[in-house]
Amino acid sequence: MRLLLIAPPGSGKGTQARRLAERYHIEHISTGELLRQQVAAGTPLGEQAREYLDRGDLVPDQMISDAVLAAVVEADHRGGFLLDGYPRNLAQAEQAQRWAASNGVAIDGAIYLDVSRDELLRRLLGRGDEPVKVGKGARTDDNEATIRHRLAVYDAQTQPLIDYYRGRGLLLAINGEQSVDQVTTDIVGQLSQRTPTP
Ligand code: AP5
Repeated sequence: MRLLLIAPPGSGKGTQARRLAERYHIEHISTGELLRQQVAAGTPLGEQAREYLDRGDLVPDQMISDAVLAAVVEADHRGGFLLDGYPRNLAQAEQAQRWAASNGVAIDGAIYLDVSRDELLRRLLGRGDEPVKVGKGARTDDNEATIRHRLAVYDAQTQPLIDYYRGRGLLLAINGEQSVDQVTTDIVGQLSQRTPTP
């Protein structure tokens, strides 16, 4: 199973990705988490990425694409992947497409979680008050100004990917404003209609 999650901040990408990765025995690759870990470890990539994360801007494509595609190659050899947060603009989508074609990899679906703006804000502002989970890179982007900027960046750069994947017959549009369990059930239901995987 090879899946992409393209949905706005706070829509439940991370929440659903963890569940789907467990269900399908595939690797969950979160680009945000990958970057936060690099920042926490003080690597050169992390040092370069920090200011973008703090502002809520996308890091430059090349900074993320090399790291992600290397992780995807590894994961694909181990049975599949779920990319949470990549691609995030048309240039990344085109790069992923070229990579998939030259490696003979076919994507099974691009999952879009549809959640209203009010609900996204409610969830993200609420999460800013949650304690940081052990082992996770700390989030420095859950304050109101940065949350609003992340949503604006999503609108401008990531939302066009919905039509991009719909046009390729790969989009799974899911109502993300239901219980966590129901969202998972709907994703699994839609996937089972298009792939033989249980
Ligand atoms: P990233 O880490 O991907 O953050 P994000 O897109 O802003 O998304 P979030 O993690 O905030 O939300 P989520 O959709 O995962 O929802 P979650 O499950 O946590 O990216 C961070 C930054 O990294 C970017 O701003 C950028 O700088 C950089 N970056 C990453 N990828 C990049 C790329 N490809 N190119 C360039 N830069 C990149 O849920 C949110 C909250 O809602 C939680 O509290 C959760 O418990 C709750 N919740 C979840 N589901 C439900 C539900 N059904 N009902 C009620 N509450 C729910």
